[in-house]
Parts: sequence; structure tokens; C-alpha cells
Amino acid sequence: MNISIRQLQIIDAIVETHSYSLAARRLHMTQPAVSMQMKQLENVTDLPIFERHGKRIMLTSAGQKIYKYVHGINVQFADLEDALIEIKKGAGRIKVSAATTANHLITQMIANFRRKHNNISIALDITNRKQLIDQLQKFEPDIVIMGEPPTRLDLESSILIPNPLVVIAHPEHPLVKQKEIPFADIAQYEFVVREHGSGTRARIESFFKEQQLEFKSTMEMGSNEAIKHAVIADLGLGIVSLHTIKLELEANKLVILDVENFPLERHWHIIKRREKHLLPAVKSFQKFIIKEAKIYAKDYERFLVK
Ligand code: PGA
Repeated sequence: MNISIRQLQIIDAIVETHSYSLAARRLHMTQPAVSMQMKQLENVTDLPIFERHGKRIMLTSAGQKIYKYVHGINVQFADLEDALIEIKKGAGRIKVSAATTANHLITQMIANFRRKHNNISIALDITNRKQLIDQLQKFEPDIVIMGEPPTRLDLESSILIPNPLVVIAHPEHPLVKQKEIPFADIAQYEFVVREHGSGTRARIESFFKEQQLEFKSTMEMGSNEAIKHAVIADLGLGIVSLHTIKLELEANKLVILDVENFPLERHWHIIKRREKHLLPAVKSFQKFIIKEAKIYAKDYERFLVK
């Protein structure tokens, strides 16, 4: 049945004003246009909707029966118009997913963003690289912050900042005082590493392979927190993103070893599915992140000065 929102709005205006001409004025239309729209609607529905009681235009009994639906639709349509205006102004909800290793980075940036845009809510999911690729495949997140982007998906991706991987040890480890330690020496030790599916883990394994060295891990752990605890407890060496150990370095609970070829170079990327349309709120978040990440990276430079 071909009924337009405009016709439903006209019904509401006539019910409130009891007059075609006042309804027309209210809707910025001409009176013949209003009458014609009502005639068309009565033809389509095959029902009389209004009748004249002296000078007043009133709903017929059929008109009264449909009016509650008509009014409900008009209220919802007005809500929709308000929501569209809000969305255009930048309010809304952003779905962000980030690699476990980027947890500190993204949390800091979200906190700074929310201070300026408290009308935008953010749903954040922190998970490993394998899960992020899964989510991207299903078009779930608006924005993803992760290591190197997967090649087999159609993505828009740009480098945010470097994500240096460093070798960490307990402060009393015998290697702490040594300079430019050959990686072959480090490879003799046992390592505490992330689970399979972690991007950091994959990079460590590929580096061992490039160096033609065997990779020995004593323990596998599902989070950077767990790795830090294990290294602090002297259970092995760790290779982690510099962005996961700020507090421990400042508190002298962990030390970065001076190893040849380190830090290993990786990068954080900001990624979205190419086909995904971003709402203005997401676009402004994206822009903010790209700017803010540079400030974040600068704060870490001091830890790499030899
Ligand atoms: P992850 O993150 O090691 O926490 O999986 C890094 C990446 O996405 O490569």
C-alpha cells in the first residue's frame, strides 16, 4: 500500500487544527495540496478518513481507528530525525577492537578522546591478533588497532607509530650489565612467551627463524601481564612490546637488555574494512587517534636511549 510519511503528518496536523487550511499552514504547504494528499490517501486505503462537522474537520470512525498508528509512526519518525541530527553532529557509539599488546596505548587514547567528546560512547574489545582478524572478517569493529595488517582482507590501513619489541629481564639477571649482546647468546636462555595467535609471538618466532636459531620457551602465557610477572620472578627472559612495560621500567622491576638487532621493528596500525562506512563520530575518533598516537610514542623514546 502506497502511503507516505507526508500523508501521515498531514493527518496529525488536521486532527490538531480541525482545518485543512491551518494544517497546510503548519506544514508549509498549500491548502489544495493538503486536500489532494488526503484524497489520494482515501483512494489508496478505500476508507473515508475525515468528515466535515460544520466548520470543523473531524476523524471518521475509520479515521479514529487508524489514528493511534498514524500518530505513533509520526512520533517515531520525529525521533528518527532527531537521531539523525545527533549522529551528524558526532554523537554515537564506536566499536573499537585492539590487540592485547596495544591495551595501554588504546586505553590512554580513549581516555583523552572521551574528555573532549563525552557524548560519544566507545565499546572496546581487547583480544589477540587471531581474534582481531576473525572480527575484521565479520565486519564487526569500526576500527581496529593492531600490529601488521593481515594481507588477505580488503582493508584500509595506515601506520600509527612504531611498536618496538625489546628483550626484558629481571634487574639482577647476569646479562643486564653487558653491552651489545649477540642475539645468539640470548637465544641460549629460556623465554616466557605469549600464546599462539599472538602477533608478538609470531614476530619473535619469525625472528628466530631469520637468525637460524632454535626458539626455546619455558612457558606460554595468554597476556603481557602474566609475562611480566614471570620475568620479574626470574622465570625466563621475555620479548615484549615496549608499550606494555612502562610502569615496571619506571619502578625498576624490569630491565631492557642491550641486544644486537633490537628493538625489533614492528608498527601499530589503525585499520578498517574498506567497504565499511564510518559515521562522523568514528571519523573524528580515527583522526584523533592518528594525532594522539604520536604524542604517546614520544613518551617512550627515553626508554630506548642507550
Ligand atoms: P598481540 O598483538 O601480540 O597482542 O596479538 C600484536 C599484533 O596485533 O600483532
